[in-house]
Amino acid sequence: MSLIQITKKSAGTPGSKGSGGSGDKPDLSYGTSSSPNNRAGFARVTIGVTSGKGGVGKTTVAVNLAVGFAQRGLKVGLLDADVYGPSVARMLLLQDEKVRWGDDKMIPAENFGIKIMSTALTSPEDDTPFAWRSSVATSALVQLLDDVDWGELDVLVVDMPPGTGDVQLTMVQEVRLTGAVIVTTPQLVAVDDVRRAIRMLLDVRAPLLGIVENMSWYDTGDGVRHHPFGQGGGALLAERYGVPLLGQFPLTDGVRAGCDDGMPAVAAGSDSDKARFRALVDAVLARPEVQARLAATEGAQ
Ligand SMILES: Nc1ncnc2c1ncn2[C@@H]1O[C@H](COP(=O)(O)OP(=O)(O)OP(=O)(O)O)[C@@H](O)[C@H]1O
Ligand SMILES: [Mg+2]
Repeated sequence: MSLIQITKKSAGTPGSKGSGGSGDKPDLSYGTSSSPNNRAGFARVTIGVTSGKGGVGKTTVAVNLAVGFAQRGLKVGLLDADVYGPSVARMLLLQDEKVRWGDDKMIPAENFGIKIMSTALTSPEDDTPFAWRSSVATSALVQLLDDVDWGELDVLVVDMPPGTGDVQLTMVQEVRLTGAVIVTTPQLVAVDDVRRAIRMLLDVRAPLLGIVENMSWYDTGDGVRHHPFGQGGGALLAERYGVPLLGQFPLTDGVRAGCDDGMPAVAAGSDSDKARFRALVDAVLARPEVQARLAATEGAQ
């Protein structure tokens, strides 16, 4: 199992809190929803990109947000919390990278001016399955926070897997999220799942930064606009939970190709795709929760 790659230089047991790889007794003092740990204290702002629903574009949004933040001059890290199905590495042209170790911590990969850590970088072969029970996945996730040399960051973007399970629970218990960006498609079948994810965040008092509606339409180029996933899901969620609709994104060949080619649209896409992602970046940065954290004294979380 590829976990061996993560654990071989750590404290004997994955997830040793802030251990830096020494000592026989790993400190696995997990946080709680009401009193979360602060394992991302190296970042002034921590933004979770989440949905509840699979395949709606969470990773696409997370990658473009992270690169867009760096374009705005911020020091950015991107944590791939989708430990079972990591796709951040390919979307940033890092699919052939392997994890490197410093003295006692893993060194994040870098591209497009951001630091990236993902279980994909620990995978011996590109099709090695992460056949982990959830306790192992949770420990691996904690390690991606504790045992990585992130340095000091302005923003840590966390790409979440679908669902409201162990990984999501771990993230809200181990990290003090500045806020969550919620991704949905316009379709009610997506909205149903997204509402559960939102409720989970509200239950633990994690701020919602707003809604991103992805796959909102498709233009065929002959002036005809299609809505393959219907219309209105993003606006419905924004209104219901009293948060802004931060952006709407059409299905475009360019965004799809950017994901496969590891060339994020915000950096290498068409002018219109670039403009839409940059507007999203600015909308997120303008949120009061984010502004407050960025203005706060560095490291004083
Ligand atoms: N606006 C878009 N236009 C074209 N393709 C898109 C767009 N958004 C996402 N995609 C494509 O849709 C697929 C799903 O996107 P992505 O992997 O970002 O979703 P996800 O929510 O992270 O999925 P998962 O739940 O599996 O983690 C990818 O192949 C991606 O390239
Ligand atoms: Mg994803």
